[in-house]
Amino acid sequence: MHISQPKKDFFANKAKEYDQKISTRNNVSNIASCILKEVNYSKNMHLMDFGSGTGLLLTEIAPHVNSITAVDVSKSMTAILKEKRNEIDCSLKIREIDLTKETINTTFDGIISSMTLHHIKDTKGILQKFYTLLKTDGSIALSDLDSEDGSFHTEDTGVFHFGFNRDTILQIAKSVGFRELKIQTVGNIEKPHGNYGVFLLTGKK
Ligand SMILES: C[S@@+](CC[C@H](N)C(=O)[O-])C[C@H]1O[C@@H](n2cnc3c(N)ncnc32)[C@H](O)[C@@H]1O
Repeated sequence: MHISQPKKDFFANKAKEYDQKISTRNNVSNIASCILKEVNYSKNMHLMDFGSGTGLLLTEIAPHVNSITAVDVSKSMTAILKEKRNEIDCSLKIREIDLTKETINTTFDGIISSMTLHHIKDTKGILQKFYTLLKTDGSIALSDLDSEDGSFHTEDTGVFHFGFNRDTILQIAKSVGFRELKIQTVGNIEKPHGNYGVFLLTGKK
């Protein structure tokens, strides 16, 4: 008999203070500004925020679209997002699921994501899933760390990649079918033990 294990919430100890870190807030703010410069959203669009966490990114994108589906596997991070519901300036649906194991029966005008791809083992698999979840011409705006030496995370939050090589992730996105791909620098996260580049990958189905 198969007994399913409860999912480990890697962010259980981080969720409550997640929004307090200025470097985290500044990084997500830079990502949001860059996304809004790069992608044309409109007030009839429905986006998905993959790995939405406490909602820092979607809060900044919300005024530009009709609705956002926030997808996150962490109960503790999602609990913080739920507390902020009234501050979010668009319609918000919250799905507490592991998107690598489950899916959503709808298609989106765009997918946004910040600092989540390095938590996903199968990069090509998740990009393929994004492709199927998008309408034709739907956009991706995915931000994450450049390749690093493994020192970025000081705790185990379920990390599968020490950032990404830009050429490699571009090639993966291309092989899945995305077009009009562009990768650019969003900023830099400074920590006492190192500086970590952050990129934004944009493209269309
Ligand atoms: C570093 S946090 C980033 C949160 C937010 N995007 C931000 O930039 O502030 C990564 C988030 O991805 C979520 N996550 C990791 N793997 C996931 C999966 N397979 N499905 C859905 N969410 C996942 C985690 O629970 C966590 O909230």
